[in-house]
Amino acid sequence: MKIFLDSADVQEIREYAQTGLIDGVTTNPSLIAKSGQNIKKVIEEICRLVAGPVSAEVVATNYEEMMKEGLVLSQIAPNVIIKVPLTMDGLKACKSLREKNIDVNVTLCFSAAQALLAAKAGASFVSPFIGRLDDISFDGLLLIEEICHIYQNYSSLTTEVLAASIRHPLHVVQAAKAGADVVTLPGKIFRQLYDHPLTNNGLQSFLADWAKTGQTLC
Ligand code: E4P
Repeated sequence: MKIFLDSADVQEIREYAQTGLIDGVTTNPSLIAKSGQNIKKVIEEICRLVAGPVSAEVVATNYEEMMKEGLVLSQIAPNVIIKVPLTMDGLKACKSLREKNIDVNVTLCFSAAQALLAAKAGASFVSPFIGRLDDISFDGLLLIEEICHIYQNYSSLTTEVLAASIRHPLHVVQAAKAGADVVTLPGKIFRQLYDHPLTNNGLQSFLADWAKTGQTLC
C-alpha cells in the first residue's frame, strides 16, 4: 500500500519525505488555507520534495472553470495531479482531463455508487473519506471494502482506491486489510504508525544494558 501525506505544510512534508517512505501528497483548499501560502507556490515546493503524485484541488464548481483551473494547476510540475469533487461537473472534468492524459483524483467520495462513476470517468484515484463517514455514525471502512470489491470485479477499472480522512492508525491497518491502494495521512498519524511505547521502553533498556558493557561499535 502506498502512503501519501495529507498536508500542505512544506516543513512537515520535507521532514517525512526524508524517510523515503512517502509516495505522494494530497492537499485540499482547507489545507492550503491553513498553510497561509500561495497555492501555486506551495504546490511547486511540495512537488520538488516528493517525486510521486501531488494532488492540487480545483475550487471552481462548474465544468468550464474546473477545466481552466485544472490546466493551470497541471502546469505547475509534472507530478501534479488534479483533484476534482465528486459532482456531475467534477466527473465531466475528470473525463476530459484524463483524455488530455492528466491524472485526476476524484475527491469527497462517500458512496460506492459515486466510486463506480469516478472509475467510469477514468479517475486515476478515488478518495473515499473514512473519518467523515465515521463522524456521522456510518462505518467508513465498509465503504473502502465495498469499493475495493467492486473494482476487483472489473479488470477494465484501473482507478486506485485512496483512503482519505484518516483519523487514527487503526484506519490505516483496516484500509490495508480491505485492499486500499493508497492511504493519505496527516503528519500526526504518520508518527503514530511507528511510535510505540514498547519499542521506546525496549530501546531504553537495551541501551542501558549496552552502556554497562563499555563497548563501542565504531
Ligand atoms: C483527502 O484528500 C482530504 O484532503 C482529507 O483526507 C480530508 O480529511 P479530513 O476529513 O480530516 O479533513
